[in-house]
Amino acid sequence: MNASIQSAARSGRPLRTAHGGAALAGTSFKHEHLAAILEHGLQDGFFEVHAENYMGAGGPPHRALSAIRERYPVSLHGVCMSIGGPDRLDARHLARFSALVARYEPALVSEHLAWSSHGGTFFNDLLPLPYTKATLDKVCEHIDQMQEAIGRPMLLENPSTYVAFAASTMSETEFIRAVAQRTGCGLLLDVNNVFVSATNHGYPARAYLADFPLEHVGEIHLAGHSEQHDDEHAPLLIDSHDRAVADPVWALYREVIARTGPIPTLIEWDSQLPAWPELRAQALAARRIVAELSSNNASESDIYHPERAAHEA
Ligand SMILES: [Fe+2]
Repeated sequence: MNASIQSAARSGRPLRTAHGGAALAGTSFKHEHLAAILEHGLQDGFFEVHAENYMGAGGPPHRALSAIRERYPVSLHGVCMSIGGPDRLDARHLARFSALVARYEPALVSEHLAWSSHGGTFFNDLLPLPYTKATLDKVCEHIDQMQEAIGRPMLLENPSTYVAFAASTMSETEFIRAVAQRTGCGLLLDVNNVFVSATNHGYPARAYLADFPLEHVGEIHLAGHSEQHDDEHAPLLIDSHDRAVADPVWALYREVIARTGPIPTLIEWDSQLPAWPELRAQALAARRIVAELSSNNASESDIYHPERAAHEA
């Protein structure tokens, strides 16, 4: 971890408690909901946007996001940085991303453990990577580069996957832990992604979460998924973000919060948008779980501290 990021982490800029309250709950921000949010918002809430939707200089997208940012903390979530790809990060994309961080001063900044561009071509998908020493080095190099550019630690999100690589030499949780320790980045734990991947690959989601380095988690994602079957009639879950959070995902979330205590939690909903009250109700359901469980078993050692992450790195 380089000196400037270590300094940012030690500055006390909070990642886990972004707005003075421990039980922050938020949702994706969609322009269709702006008027309803301004009318009947989310007390102690936060809103997450995809960075790539705000890379123009001005216009309606920025007016809408500015209206939100005046009232709420914002989480800036990148989907095209291609952290997991073999190429160098795209310098122009990184500059646009950094400008957004400077402009909106988001409470949280995150990207995916995935790749989405190759040789100058950008794809619409978050694609998986093998977990090897070589890809670990490359991912860490990219995160160092990104954190240096934005001048602060970022959160890295665990992926939802549909294929696994025979070439992998370490588990996903081992890989993610090593990235966090080497770069000082925090983690964004997407519990729906855990459930989707576990179902698709046939391993227990609870075993994955037992191995996950929860002490580095600065944000949680919850989302809905669709259910299909593959050619052999085995269940195939798609990380579709187009419906309410499924009951098994809520159950896993409860187990995580019981171990960690409060973590800012965001409901991702990107298509087939519901009316604002339905989305808001999902965020409030997450907040109720945090309130119910956070006084129970959270141990101080489970809580993510940027200062400690910087020291460990
Ligand atoms: Fe997510």
